[in-house]
Amino acid sequence: MAEVTRKLGLSTTAIHGGAPRPTPGTGVASPLVQAVNYVQETGTSEGLRYTRYGNTPNAELVQRRLAQLEGSEAALVLSSGMGATSCAMLALLRTGDHLVSSSWIYGGTRKLFSEDIPGMGIEVTFVNPLEPRGWRKALRKTTRVIFLETPVNPTCRVLELNSLQSLAHSEGIALVVDSTFASPVNFRPIEHGVDVVIHSATKYLNGHHDILAGVVCGNEPFIDEVRQKMMVWGQAPDPFACWLLERGLKTIDVRVKRQNENAMEIAEWCSKRPEIAKVHYPGLPSHPDHEIAKTLLDGFGGMLAIELKGAGPAAIRFIHALKLFTYAASLGGVDSLVIEPRYSSHEFMTPDERAKIGIPDGFLRLSIGIENAEDLIADIEQALQQ
Ligand SMILES: Cc1ncc(COP(=O)(O)O)c(C=O)c1O
Repeated sequence: MAEVTRKLGLSTTAIHGGAPRPTPGTGVASPLVQAVNYVQETGTSEGLRYTRYGNTPNAELVQRRLAQLEGSEAALVLSSGMGATSCAMLALLRTGDHLVSSSWIYGGTRKLFSEDIPGMGIEVTFVNPLEPRGWRKALRKTTRVIFLETPVNPTCRVLELNSLQSLAHSEGIALVVDSTFASPVNFRPIEHGVDVVIHSATKYLNGHHDILAGVVCGNEPFIDEVRQKMMVWGQAPDPFACWLLERGLKTIDVRVKRQNENAMEIAEWCSKRPEIAKVHYPGLPSHPDHEIAKTLLDGFGGMLAIELKGAGPAAIRFIHALKLFTYAASLGGVDSLVIEPRYSSHEFMTPDERAKIGIPDGFLRLSIGIENAEDLIADIEQALQQ
C-alpha cells in the first residue's frame, strides 16, 4: 500500500505513528519482544541492543510515536515519571548550576528538587508561579532550567506560558514542563515554545493503571544526553511496559475526550451542591485560570478537585461512602479514583505548607475515568448524603 503523505490527526498518529506498515503474515498488533539482550554483529559495536540502553524494538516504537504526538524531534521512555524528571535534570544541570522551579509541583518532584538536587551542589529556588515578576526575580547568572507543571497537580491551576518562554529564551535557559495532567490530547507545550516536555506515562498516556513509565520529549541532542543518564542510572523501561504503553496510546484520544466530558459534567454538578465548598476545574467559568485554559488547552482535562464543607472529617466520611470511585493514588486511567493529597502526593509537607499552595485538609482530588457520567454523579450524590 502507498505511504500516507498528508499530516495525520492525533488519533490516527496514536494508533499508527512510528510503526512499520504490517505486511502479510505479520501481526496487526506489534509483537512484544521480551528479550533483554540481542544478537550482535561481529567486529563492531554498531547495532548493540540492550534493554537498559532504551533501544529495544518495543521502546523504539513507542518513543517514535510519543515524539509525533508531542510534536518533538525525539522522545525517550523511562521506567517512571520520576525517572524521567530525574534523568532530564541530570542531563541539564551540573554542580554550581541553578534551577528555578514552580512551587506548585507534584510532591515527588518537590522532594527531588528540595533534597536530592541540592545535595549535588545545584541550587534550587522555588517560585510562586503567579507572583508578578516572580520568575524574573529568581533568575541568576547560573540559572540553567525553569521547571513547571501545568495543569498543576492537584489544584488544576493552568499557567500562562507566553511571557515565560520569552524570558527563558532571552536568557538562554531551558524551559521544562511536566505535562502529565494534560496529555498531548489536551495540550502540546512544544507548540508554545517549551523546550522539554515530561510526562508520567503511568497516567493518561497508558491510561489503564497497569504500568509505571515516564517520557522525556525534546530535541535529538538533548534526548541523547538523557539516554546516557538513563543508561548509567538504570532507569530504562521493561519491554512489556513499552508494549502496554503503546497499546494504551492507541485509545488516548477517545479516552481523554470522554474524560474531559465526564469531568465537565461532574464539575458543573458539584458546583451546585450545598455540601461542597469549592470545586477546582479549569472548565468552569468561575475557575481563576478559565480564560488561560480556553486559549492554551484543547480540553479542560479529566482531573478535578473538591473541598467539602466539614473539611478533613467530612472528606474521610465521603471517601468511605463512595462505591464506584476507588480510593487510590495515581491518575489518568479509565477507572475513576479519589485521593486526599495530604495522605499521598503531598504527605511529607506540613499542613501549613500545603495550605499555602492551596491544599487545605479535606481537599479531595478526583481522577475521572470513562465510566458513564450519570453513574459517577449518582455515586458522589449518595456519598454526600451520608
Ligand atoms: C504531575 C506528575 N508528575 C510526575 C509524577 C511521577 O510519576 P511516576 O509515579 O510515574 O514516577 C506524578 C505521579 O503522580 C505526577 O502526578
